Amino acid sequence: MNPKPHASDKLWGGRFQEPTNAFVERFTASIHYDSRLFREDIRASMVHCQMLARQGIISQEDAAAILAGLETVRGELEAGQMVFRTDLEDIHMHVESRLRALIGPVAGKLHTARSRNDQVATDLRLYLRGEVDELVAGLIRVQRSLLALAQDHVETILPGTTHMQNAQPVSLAHHLLAYFEMFGRDRERLLGLRPRLNRMPLGAAALAGTPFPIDREWVAGQLGFEGICANSMDAVSDRDFVLEVAFAGAVIMGHLSRFSEELILWSSSFFGFIELPDAFCTGSSIMPQKKNPDVPELVRGKSGRVTGHLMALLTMMKGLPLAYNRDMQEDKEPIFDVVDTVGGSLRLFADMIPGIRVHKENMATAAAAGFTTATDLADYLVRKGVPFREAHEITGRIVRLCIDDNKTLANLPLATMQGVDGRIDADVLAVLTVEASINARQSLGGTAFARVREALSTAMVELG
Ligand code: ARG
Repeated sequence: MNPKPHASDKLWGGRFQEPTNAFVERFTASIHYDSRLFREDIRASMVHCQMLARQGIISQEDAAAILAGLETVRGELEAGQMVFRTDLEDIHMHVESRLRALIGPVAGKLHTARSRNDQVATDLRLYLRGEVDELVAGLIRVQRSLLALAQDHVETILPGTTHMQNAQPVSLAHHLLAYFEMFGRDRERLLGLRPRLNRMPLGAAALAGTPFPIDREWVAGQLGFEGICANSMDAVSDRDFVLEVAFAGAVIMGHLSRFSEELILWSSSFFGFIELPDAFCTGSSIMPQKKNPDVPELVRGKSGRVTGHLMALLTMMKGLPLAYNRDMQEDKEPIFDVVDTVGGSLRLFADMIPGIRVHKENMATAAAAGFTTATDLADYLVRKGVPFREAHEITGRIVRLCIDDNKTLANLPLATMQGVDGRIDADVLAVLTVEASINARQSLGGTAFARVREALSTAMVELG
């Protein structure tokens, strides 16, 4: 007999003669982050165990002992009582090792017809399914906040910009509803990826399937999966569902970041359009007058790290041969940070938006500056039969006169305009105000107050 030369608790220790290098142990361990998968790990293990008993692969008595043991382990983990050890690598090993300590060698039967490869993929899919549902709920909360604010500001006039230059006046609600649309698509994206995410790898075992007569369909049904991964090698080796969640998260952060940028600008003294709630800002340790928009700034900043995680994940996966590779353990920290960061940012926005105070007069004044109704003047000429290009040229000359005389389009004398083009009549004055400009834009999806009210009701119905 060849007794083992070293004591090891490792569940794979049989063929090894030397202990693992201490730093290798720390370097390869994932328990400090994958412990967050413990609920999914135990839930999937319980169903797997029940299936083994149903199929007669293990006895009912053994299954009962394992299930009771797993219940105890779950309670210990919930209570934060488990001591994590790097020599036990990951959450799967911790659960199994603790189970063995509680119920003895029968614990070893749980891993029949299973591998950590299909186990970890199953845990992660279950976990991300829950997180995706949370993100969808978070998006809905942000959308509700936007709707509530928009409702108060249908007739609040905002300078709409392109190239960050004053372009055409718009309803503030219209602007807010643009974000409502973005977050709506973000929701669709998550719901779209969910059925692909919600397929079960368990039963693939290490990579090739198992000789035991398992019942994957039954397990999938018990775990709420919509289907099973059809190919055992694909089941354990792809992480495209992680990439999809990361991508959807990066897009959400991109939307939040653009909105953040606007809130930061609008709340500056240069714009003076809004004031953010105190509870979401901080002061300066040296400048007593300061109120800094830290929340939008941090959300804008954190969009970079979510995009970075997406890049890390895409890069980590490329070039991996089938099937499982340890590289894939590197999927967890990035995707956990993605769901934490996106979820946290959505929560902050949902809570901050209702506290935004709008300085309507400053917005309206800014909306009138910069000849924002020039397009309306050109459109007016078009209605008089002037080709748009010519109307554009005439209007440009009139704007030039305004600049020279320090006038706005609305207060430039009619005679001056008529001096540039005789086709301009007194009825032009009615089209040159910002309200007229907004309300002229009745096209579907446009900013006319009536259209915005319709869009608001549609949005309400959509959210239910
Ligand atoms: N901690 C591992 C991971 O996250 C679990 C799977 C390990 N499988 C293996 N054959 N070493 O990927």
